[in-house]
Parts: sequence; structure tokens; C-alpha cells
Amino acid sequence: MFKGVLFDLDGVITDTAEYHYLAWKKLADGLGISIDRQFNEKLKGVSREDSLRLILEHGNREKDFSDEEFQQLAKTKNDNYVEMIQAVSPKDVYPGILELLKDLKQSGIKISLASASKNGPFLLKQMELTEYFDGIADPAKVKAGKPAPDIFILAAQVVGLKPEECLGIEDAQAGIAAIKASGALPVGVGNAEQLGTDIALVGSTAELSLAYLKKQWDK
Ligand code: BG6
Ligand code: MG
Repeated sequence: MFKGVLFDLDGVITDTAEYHYLAWKKLADGLGISIDRQFNEKLKGVSREDSLRLILEHGNREKDFSDEEFQQLAKTKNDNYVEMIQAVSPKDVYPGILELLKDLKQSGIKISLASASKNGPFLLKQMELTEYFDGIADPAKVKAGKPAPDIFILAAQVVGLKPEECLGIEDAQAGIAAIKASGALPVGVGNAEQLGTDIALVGSTAELSLAYLKKQWDK
């Protein structure tokens, strides 16, 4: 049996992946760079700075900003995003997630957060989920962001486990790659077109029961 579950947050626990997209789109529009949902698949799971770099490259504007201006752009996006998430509440937790967290806890399986977002702890608090988490990997403490495995390795480590003893749940291409590289077993939330045909996939978090996870582990 697996001993821990490493959760992504945005797009797995709640719909904040959409807010990230809207905030990036607003920033990109202001720079005359057009991004769409297809391009956004490459941003999912990717750190704030790396996302901004990808957007500027996409608009051929990567050389147009000083370091200071770059940081200011990242801040503008985050300020806008933070405003959007102030109203997040327990009602916004995706279907099946609370029940899964309760079942994992009852079974003594460790629960850890492997989100790239510096806003993760605030969101857990807003959704009243903090108490379920045995550990949170601080994205500020990892060298390389997703698709590198670092954040999943750290998320396992903070609950005293090896990635090989854990399942990782992700909605992003970069996140699935990170889980695979860490040695944990990936479960994707989304479709095969985005996330690949070689992993366990659910179309909705409502399917993420403890029984489902056990079944994937035993395969
Ligand atoms: C990830 C999101 O969870 O966190 C990305 O999928 C986001 O879209 C990244 O860029 C960093 O988040 P934040 O809140 O620290 O800017
Ligand atoms: Mg995500």
C-alpha cells in the first residue's frame, strides 16, 4: 500500500487554475501578447517566474524588460490573482476531495501538498483544509520547479516518506512529468490528450476515492 498522497492544489483541490489563467491573460493582453487556453496548458503547474518567461518568449518580448521590470510584471499578475482568490471558501473545494482527505486520514496515510504556488497555504486556510495536511512543501525551498521532481521529493520528505511510497495527483503536464521523475505514482485529473495515455486518469475529482487510488496502486 502507498503511505502518502502528494497533492497538487491549483486545478486538483479547487478551480484556481482558472484564476491563474485569467490573471496571466490580463497581464499578457496588457503587453500586447495573446495567449489562449491551449498555450495555458504549458503554464499549468509552472512557477510564477517561469510562466512569465514562457509568456514573454511566446510574444517575442523576452529581451524587452530589465530584471526589475520582470519582477514588477510578476508582482502585478500575483496582486491581481490574490485579489481573485480572496473569496475562495470551503464551498469551492472540488467534489470528492474532502471525503478523500478524511478517508486518507482515517487510514493513516500521510497527506502532503506539492504545489508550486506560494499562495497554497493561504488557499488551504480559505477552504478550511489546513488541518488535513501533514506537510506542505515550500516551493521557495526547491531549486527547480515542475517539471523537475524537486517539489514532489520535498513533499514526500516533509512527511517522512520516499516518493516511491507515494501517489501524486496532478492536473498539469509539467506536474505529471514531475511526479514521474520523482518516482511517485502519478494520477492525472484531466484528459489523455493533455496528460497522456500512459497514466491513471480521472475526468473529475469526484472519481478520486480511496478505493480508486488503491486500485491504481495495486495495478
Ligand atoms: C501552480 C499553478 O500551482 O502554481 C501555476 O498551476 C502557478 O499556474 C504556480 O504559476 C505558481 O503560483 P503562485 O501563486 O506562487 O504565483
Ligand atoms: Mg495544478
